[in-house]
Amino acid sequence: MSGTSVRRPRVAVSRTALPGGGVGRLATRFDVTAWTGTQPPTPAELAGLVQGCEGLLVLGSDRVDAALLDAAGPDLRVVALASMGYDGVDVATAAERGVVVTHTPHVLADTTADVAMALILMARRRLPAGMDALRRGEWGAFRMDAFLGLDVQGATLGLIGYGQIARALARRAAGFGMRVQHHHPRRREDDQLSRWVPFDELLRTSDVVSVHTPLTEETKGMIGAPELALMKTTATLVNTGRGGVVDEEALLTALRRGDLHSAGLDVMTGEPRTDPSDPLLNEPHLVVLPHVGSATEATRAAMVELAARNIEAVLDGHPAPTPLPGTPSLPGRLRGNAPMLAGRQASRP
Ligand code: DGY
Repeated sequence: MSGTSVRRPRVAVSRTALPGGGVGRLATRFDVTAWTGTQPPTPAELAGLVQGCEGLLVLGSDRVDAALLDAAGPDLRVVALASMGYDGVDVATAAERGVVVTHTPHVLADTTADVAMALILMARRRLPAGMDALRRGEWGAFRMDAFLGLDVQGATLGLIGYGQIARALARRAAGFGMRVQHHHPRRREDDQLSRWVPFDELLRTSDVVSVHTPLTEETKGMIGAPELALMKTTATLVNTGRGGVVDEEALLTALRRGDLHSAGLDVMTGEPRTDPSDPLLNEPHLVVLPHVGSATEATRAAMVELAARNIEAVLDGHPAPTPLPGTPSLPGRLRGNAPMLAGRQASRP
């Protein structure tokens, strides 16, 4: 036996404490460097961490752009997101450079749909307002006309986008006695849970509109003042997808004017929102949550586990189990394909 040792592939991980056993298992096989800061790394700090790595495990809120891919260098083979959404990734540049990018479908749809259903109930029944009043000592007497909300049974739920989370919400809504309809720009199909309707019709006829599109150039601001104006004044808007899809100023205006009954947001632009006086956090008919759609112990562990499995597969020379839609599962340059991949991501609902 000679004294030379084989260098283990290097893997960078963008957070210090991630749930589950995925990162621990990576550390038994690879040379893992995890970010140790208490705050998430800045782009420059992440660039420093990733230098010379073959694999990178990041969260959906980390930017994976050309500068980060440059900083990693030519050995980078796989970037595994512990998230379903990938709006922070420059997909075309990663494909040009032959880097596999993966995400975590299948493992978080039910958990996130639970939060969407909770937001529907909280916003429509005005439950947080009741809780706030109770905590302030304002529950003077039982009154037949106090804390009145709107029913969900018999109401129509309109889903914008019809992927895994939207379908999981459709299943829950059926159990609550809601009628379900959806809009998807290309897949114009009804199924047992829901019927397809045109976008404007969905906005006009739904009592609850729930947003389930990824954030792309096409979907940015797709729910703005004109769309909110089409909705019923008794309607509720819910967003568990990405903040930029809803124009927040237009939403606040609609709520203040009484043009919309209520809204529930698990996602916002400019996350994290830390100013307690932020108007978005203080609007009475708006329920806001700190991006907790997938936040259960089991689901977050499953997301990290799937990200780790993607890294293991690629570094072992196997196809990644869950590459981004329309992208390669094995590393290697795909000359000429980048514009096609970028277009595909941009139009994905
Ligand atoms: C997702 O999976 O996209 C969630 O928003 C967490 O990043």
